[in-house]
Amino acid sequence: MINKKLVLITGSSSGLGFELAKLFAEDNYDIAMSGSSERIYHSAKEIEKLGVKTYPYKADASTYEGVENFWKFVESKGRKVDAAVLNVGISLGGAFLENKLEDELRLIDINISGTVHMAKRVAKHMVENKSGDILIVSSLSATLPTPYETVYGPSKAFGFMFSEALRVELKEKNVNVTAMLPGATNTDFHHNAGMDNTFFGDEKNKNDKVQVAKQGYDALKNKLDYVVCGDEETKKEAIQNRTTPEEVKAMRHAQKAKPE
Ligand SMILES: NC(=O)c1ccc[n+]([C@@H]2O[C@H](COP(=O)([O-])OP(=O)(O)OC[C@H]3O[C@@H](n4cnc5c(N)ncnc54)[C@H](OP(=O)(O)O)[C@@H]3O)[C@@H](O)[C@H]2O)c1
Repeated sequence: MINKKLVLITGSSSGLGFELAKLFAEDNYDIAMSGSSERIYHSAKEIEKLGVKTYPYKADASTYEGVENFWKFVESKGRKVDAAVLNVGISLGGAFLENKLEDELRLIDINISGTVHMAKRVAKHMVENKSGDILIVSSLSATLPTPYETVYGPSKAFGFMFSEALRVELKEKNVNVTAMLPGATNTDFHHNAGMDNTFFGDEKNKNDKVQVAKQGYDALKNKLDYVVCGDEETKKEAIQNRTTPEEVKAMRHAQKAKPE
Protein backbone atom coordinates (compact mmCIF):
# COMPACT_ATOMS: atom_id res chain seq x y z
CA MET A 1 0.00 0.00 0.00
CA ILE A 2 1.46 3.35 -1.09
CA ASN A 3 0.62 6.20 1.27
CA LYS A 4 2.24 8.99 -0.73
CA LYS A 5 0.07 11.40 -2.65
CA LEU A 6 -0.11 11.29 -6.45
CA VAL A 7 -0.60 14.19 -8.88
CA LEU A 8 -1.33 13.92 -12.60
CA ILE A 9 0.13 16.77 -14.70
CA THR A 10 -0.53 17.02 -18.45
CA GLY A 11 2.12 18.61 -20.65
CA SER A 12 4.82 18.37 -18.00
CA SER A 13 7.99 17.66 -19.98
CA SER A 14 8.86 21.38 -20.01
CA GLY A 15 7.61 24.87 -19.27
CA LEU A 16 4.99 25.51 -16.59
CA GLY A 17 4.01 21.84 -16.34
CA PHE A 18 7.58 20.90 -15.48
CA GLU A 19 7.91 23.75 -12.95
CA LEU A 20 4.67 22.64 -11.31
CA ALA A 21 5.95 19.05 -11.24
CA LYS A 22 9.02 20.27 -9.30
CA LEU A 23 6.80 22.02 -6.73
CA PHE A 24 4.62 18.94 -6.21
CA ALA A 25 7.77 16.79 -5.92
CA GLU A 26 9.18 19.13 -3.27
CA ASP A 27 5.90 18.54 -1.42
CA ASN A 28 6.54 14.79 -1.70
CA TYR A 29 3.90 13.93 -4.32
CA ASP A 30 4.60 11.17 -6.83
CA ILE A 31 3.89 12.42 -10.32
CA ALA A 32 2.18 11.04 -13.44
CA MET A 33 3.56 13.13 -16.30
CA SER A 34 2.63 13.42 -19.99
CA GLY A 35 4.07 14.96 -23.13
CA SER A 36 3.96 14.26 -26.83
CA SER A 37 7.67 13.63 -27.33
CA GLU A 38 10.44 11.41 -25.96
CA ARG A 39 11.66 14.16 -23.66
CA ILE A 40 8.94 13.26 -21.16
CA TYR A 41 11.15 10.32 -20.09
CA HIS A 42 14.16 12.58 -19.58
CA SER A 43 12.07 15.14 -17.65
CA ALA A 44 10.65 12.40 -15.43
CA LYS A 45 14.21 11.33 -14.55
CA GLU A 46 14.99 14.93 -13.57
CA ILE A 47 11.96 15.00 -11.27
CA GLU A 48 12.93 11.64 -9.72
CA LYS A 49 16.16 13.29 -8.52
CA LEU A 50 13.91 15.15 -6.06
CA GLY A 51 13.14 11.83 -4.37
CA VAL A 52 9.70 10.95 -5.72
CA LYS A 53 8.38 8.32 -8.10
CA THR A 54 7.24 9.35 -11.57
CA TYR A 55 4.99 7.70 -14.16
CA PRO A 56 5.92 9.25 -17.53
CA TYR A 57 3.66 8.70 -20.52
CA LYS A 58 4.06 9.78 -24.13
CA ALA A 59 0.76 10.63 -25.80
CA ASP A 60 -0.65 13.25 -28.14
CA ALA A 61 -3.18 15.34 -26.19
CA SER A 62 -4.80 16.51 -29.44
CA THR A 63 -6.42 13.09 -29.92
CA TYR A 64 -9.16 11.32 -27.98
CA GLU A 65 -6.95 8.21 -27.68
CA GLY A 66 -3.99 10.26 -26.46
CA VAL A 67 -5.98 11.71 -23.56
CA GLU A 68 -7.85 8.51 -22.75
CA ASN A 69 -4.72 6.34 -22.86
CA PHE A 70 -2.85 8.63 -20.47
CA TRP A 71 -5.77 8.41 -18.04
CA LYS A 72 -5.96 4.59 -18.40
CA PHE A 73 -2.19 4.41 -17.81
CA VAL A 74 -2.55 6.40 -14.58
CA GLU A 75 -5.59 4.40 -13.49
CA SER A 76 -3.71 1.13 -14.08
CA LYS A 77 -1.31 2.07 -11.26
CA GLY A 78 -4.19 1.41 -8.86
CA ARG A 79 -3.51 4.55 -6.86
CA LYS A 80 -5.68 7.39 -5.67
CA VAL A 81 -5.09 10.55 -7.72
CA ASP A 82 -4.99 13.34 -5.14
CA ALA A 83 -4.40 16.26 -7.50
CA ALA A 84 -4.53 16.96 -11.22
CA VAL A 85 -3.06 19.81 -13.23
CA LEU A 86 -4.76 20.23 -16.62
CA ASN A 87 -1.89 22.19 -18.07
CA VAL A 88 -1.24 21.10 -21.63
CA GLY A 89 -2.01 23.85 -24.11
CA ILE A 90 -0.68 25.47 -27.26
CA SER A 91 -1.10 28.76 -29.09
CA LEU A 92 -0.92 29.59 -32.77
CA GLY A 93 0.37 32.97 -33.88
CA GLY A 94 -0.33 34.66 -37.19
CA ALA A 95 -3.28 35.99 -39.14
CA PHE A 96 -6.54 34.06 -39.10
CA LEU A 97 -6.83 34.37 -42.88
CA GLU A 98 -3.42 32.79 -43.35
CA ASN A 99 -3.36 30.07 -40.71
CA LYS A 100 -4.40 26.55 -41.61
CA LEU A 101 -7.80 25.46 -40.36
CA GLU A 102 -6.35 22.09 -39.30
CA ASP A 103 -3.89 23.85 -36.97
CA GLU A 104 -6.69 25.89 -35.38
CA LEU A 105 -8.84 22.80 -34.89
CA ARG A 106 -5.87 21.01 -33.34
CA LEU A 107 -5.49 23.89 -30.86
CA ILE A 108 -9.17 23.50 -29.93
CA ASP A 109 -8.69 19.73 -29.57
CA ILE A 110 -5.83 20.21 -27.10
CA ASN A 111 -6.96 23.31 -25.18
CA ILE A 112 -10.71 22.66 -25.03
CA SER A 113 -11.68 19.06 -25.89
CA GLY A 114 -8.65 17.56 -24.16
CA THR A 115 -9.23 19.63 -21.02
CA VAL A 116 -12.90 18.61 -20.81
CA HIS A 117 -11.97 14.98 -21.48
CA MET A 118 -9.34 14.75 -18.74
CA ALA A 119 -11.49 16.77 -16.33
CA LYS A 120 -14.28 14.22 -16.80
CA ARG A 121 -12.02 11.30 -15.84
CA VAL A 122 -10.28 13.08 -12.99
CA ALA A 123 -13.43 14.63 -11.47
CA LYS A 124 -15.28 11.30 -11.37
CA HIS A 125 -12.28 9.59 -9.79
CA MET A 126 -11.92 12.30 -7.15
CA VAL A 127 -15.62 12.41 -6.30
CA GLU A 128 -15.55 8.62 -5.79
CA ASN A 129 -12.63 9.14 -3.41
CA LYS A 130 -14.40 12.09 -1.75
CA SER A 131 -11.40 14.43 -2.16
CA GLY A 132 -9.10 16.05 -4.67
CA ASP A 133 -7.62 19.22 -6.11
CA ILE A 134 -7.79 20.23 -9.77
CA LEU A 135 -5.73 23.08 -11.25
CA ILE A 136 -6.83 24.23 -14.70
CA VAL A 137 -4.21 26.28 -16.53
CA SER A 138 -5.98 29.08 -18.36
CA SER A 139 -4.33 32.42 -19.18
CA LEU A 140 -4.53 36.18 -18.79
CA SER A 141 -5.62 35.88 -22.45
CA ALA A 142 -8.94 34.62 -21.09
CA THR A 143 -9.71 38.25 -20.17
CA LEU A 144 -9.32 39.84 -23.61
CA PRO A 145 -9.74 39.27 -27.35
CA THR A 146 -6.41 38.09 -28.83
CA PRO A 147 -5.98 39.13 -32.49
CA TYR A 148 -3.12 37.25 -34.21
CA GLU A 149 -3.69 34.47 -31.69
CA THR A 150 -7.32 34.59 -32.71
CA VAL A 151 -8.39 31.15 -31.53
CA TYR A 152 -6.06 30.86 -28.53
CA GLY A 153 -7.59 33.57 -26.29
CA PRO A 154 -11.13 32.20 -26.67
CA SER A 155 -9.88 28.69 -25.90
CA LYS A 156 -8.43 29.99 -22.63
CA ALA A 157 -11.62 31.95 -21.83
CA PHE A 158 -13.35 28.58 -22.12
CA GLY A 159 -10.85 27.07 -19.68
CA PHE A 160 -11.39 29.86 -17.13
CA MET A 161 -15.20 29.73 -17.16
CA PHE A 162 -15.18 25.92 -17.31
CA SER A 163 -13.01 25.90 -14.20
CA GLU A 164 -15.27 28.33 -12.31
CA ALA A 165 -18.36 26.30 -13.24
CA LEU A 166 -16.85 22.97 -12.29
CA ARG A 167 -15.66 24.47 -9.02
CA VAL A 168 -19.24 25.16 -7.94
CA GLU A 169 -20.47 21.69 -8.92
CA LEU A 170 -17.63 19.86 -7.19
CA LYS A 171 -17.42 21.97 -4.04
CA GLU A 172 -20.10 20.01 -2.23
CA LYS A 173 -18.25 16.79 -3.16
CA ASN A 174 -15.09 17.99 -1.39
CA VAL A 175 -13.17 18.44 -4.66
CA ASN A 176 -11.50 21.82 -5.19
CA VAL A 177 -11.05 23.42 -8.63
CA THR A 178 -8.71 26.39 -9.16
CA ALA A 179 -7.96 28.28 -12.39
CA MET A 180 -4.50 29.66 -13.09
CA LEU A 181 -4.21 32.72 -15.36
CA PRO A 182 -0.56 33.41 -16.19
CA GLY A 183 0.51 36.48 -18.13
CA ALA A 184 3.12 35.94 -20.86
CA THR A 185 5.80 33.66 -19.37
CA ASN A 186 9.34 32.70 -20.38
CA THR A 187 8.79 29.13 -21.62
CA ASP A 188 9.04 27.74 -25.19
CA PHE A 189 5.35 28.50 -25.61
CA HIS A 190 5.54 31.52 -27.97
CA HIS A 191 8.38 29.99 -29.97
CA ASN A 192 6.27 26.85 -30.43
CA ALA A 193 3.39 29.08 -31.55
CA GLY A 194 5.57 30.64 -34.28
CA MET A 195 5.65 34.01 -32.50
CA ASP A 196 9.39 34.74 -32.29
CA ASN A 197 8.95 37.87 -34.46
CA THR A 198 6.46 39.52 -32.10
CA PHE A 199 6.60 41.41 -28.79
CA PHE A 200 6.11 38.03 -27.11
CA GLY A 201 9.21 36.64 -28.81
CA ASP A 202 11.35 38.80 -26.52
CA GLU A 203 12.12 37.15 -23.17
CA LYS A 204 12.35 40.49 -21.37
CA ASN A 205 8.63 41.07 -21.98
CA LYS A 206 7.69 37.94 -20.07
CA ASN A 207 7.16 36.70 -16.54
CA ASP A 208 9.43 34.23 -14.78
CA LYS A 209 8.11 30.68 -15.07
CA VAL A 210 9.34 29.75 -11.57
CA GLN A 211 7.37 32.61 -10.01
CA VAL A 212 4.30 31.91 -12.16
CA ALA A 213 4.25 28.20 -11.27
CA LYS A 214 4.66 28.96 -7.55
CA GLN A 215 1.74 31.40 -7.59
CA GLY A 216 -0.45 28.78 -9.28
CA TYR A 217 0.66 26.10 -6.84
CA ASP A 218 -0.03 28.27 -3.80
CA ALA A 219 -3.47 29.22 -5.13
CA LEU A 220 -4.36 25.55 -5.49
CA LYS A 221 -3.15 24.77 -1.98
CA ASN A 222 -5.19 27.70 -0.64
CA LYS A 223 -8.20 26.52 -2.68
CA LEU A 224 -8.69 29.92 -4.40
CA ASP A 225 -11.13 30.04 -7.29
CA TYR A 226 -8.53 31.62 -9.57
CA VAL A 227 -5.20 33.39 -9.54
CA VAL A 228 -3.53 35.77 -12.00
CA CYS A 229 0.13 34.75 -12.17
CA GLY A 230 3.09 36.99 -12.87
CA ASP A 231 4.54 40.32 -11.76
CA GLU A 232 2.67 43.37 -10.43
CA GLU A 233 2.16 44.73 -13.98
CA THR A 234 0.45 41.49 -15.00
CA LYS A 235 -1.84 41.59 -11.98
CA LYS A 236 -2.65 45.26 -12.66
CA GLU A 237 -3.49 44.45 -16.28
CA ALA A 238 -5.91 41.73 -15.17
CA ILE A 239 -7.75 44.21 -12.93
CA GLN A 240 -7.87 46.87 -15.68
CA ASN A 241 -9.15 44.29 -18.16
CA ARG A 242 -12.38 44.03 -16.17
CA THR A 243 -13.41 47.54 -17.23
CA THR A 244 -11.45 48.20 -20.44
CA PRO A 245 -13.61 47.92 -23.59
CA GLU A 246 -13.02 44.72 -25.57
CA GLU A 247 -12.09 46.70 -28.68
CA VAL A 248 -9.35 48.61 -26.85
CA LYS A 249 -7.91 45.41 -25.37
CA ALA A 250 -8.05 43.77 -28.80
CA MET A 251 -6.12 46.63 -30.44
CA ARG A 252 -3.45 46.46 -27.72
CA HIS A 253 -3.03 42.72 -28.14
CA ALA A 254 -2.87 43.05 -31.93
CA GLN A 255 0.10 45.40 -31.56
CA LYS A 256 1.93 42.86 -29.43
CA ALA A 257 1.04 39.69 -31.35
CA LYS A 258 1.14 40.91 -34.97
CA PRO A 259 4.21 39.45 -36.73
CA GLU A 260 6.80 42.11 -37.63
N1 LIG B 1 3.99 30.58 -21.53
C1 LIG B 1 3.04 31.51 -21.53
O1 LIG B 1 3.25 32.67 -21.90
C2 LIG B 1 1.65 31.15 -21.05
C3 LIG B 1 0.82 32.20 -20.63
C4 LIG B 1 -0.47 31.89 -20.20
C5 LIG B 1 -0.90 30.58 -20.16
N2 LIG B 1 -0.07 29.58 -20.56
C6 LIG B 1 -0.59 28.21 -20.54
O2 LIG B 1 0.27 27.40 -19.78
C7 LIG B 1 0.19 26.05 -20.26
C8 LIG B 1 1.59 25.51 -20.41
O3 LIG B 1 2.27 26.32 -21.33
P1 LIG B 1 3.86 26.45 -21.36
O4 LIG B 1 4.19 27.88 -21.41
O5 LIG B 1 4.48 25.63 -20.31
O6 LIG B 1 4.14 25.83 -22.81
P2 LIG B 1 5.37 24.98 -23.38
O7 LIG B 1 6.64 25.46 -22.79
O8 LIG B 1 5.19 25.02 -24.86
O9 LIG B 1 5.09 23.51 -22.81
C9 LIG B 1 4.00 22.76 -23.26
C10 LIG B 1 4.04 21.36 -22.70
O10 LIG B 1 2.97 20.63 -23.28
C11 LIG B 1 3.47 19.50 -23.98
N3 LIG B 1 2.68 19.33 -25.20
C12 LIG B 1 2.57 20.18 -26.24
N4 LIG B 1 1.74 19.67 -27.18
C13 LIG B 1 1.34 18.47 -26.71
C14 LIG B 1 0.49 17.46 -27.20
N5 LIG B 1 -0.10 17.57 -28.39
N6 LIG B 1 0.29 16.36 -26.45
C15 LIG B 1 0.89 16.22 -25.24
N7 LIG B 1 1.70 17.13 -24.73
C16 LIG B 1 1.94 18.24 -25.45
C17 LIG B 1 4.92 19.82 -24.26
O11 LIG B 1 5.72 18.66 -24.33
P3 LIG B 1 6.18 18.00 -25.72
O12 LIG B 1 6.76 19.10 -26.54
O13 LIG B 1 7.16 16.98 -25.31
O14 LIG B 1 4.94 17.42 -26.27
C18 LIG B 1 5.31 20.61 -23.02
O15 LIG B 1 5.61 19.74 -21.96
C19 LIG B 1 -0.64 26.12 -21.54
O16 LIG B 1 -1.94 25.68 -21.27
C20 LIG B 1 -0.65 27.57 -21.91
O17 LIG B 1 -1.80 27.95 -22.61
C21 LIG B 1 1.19 29.83 -21.00
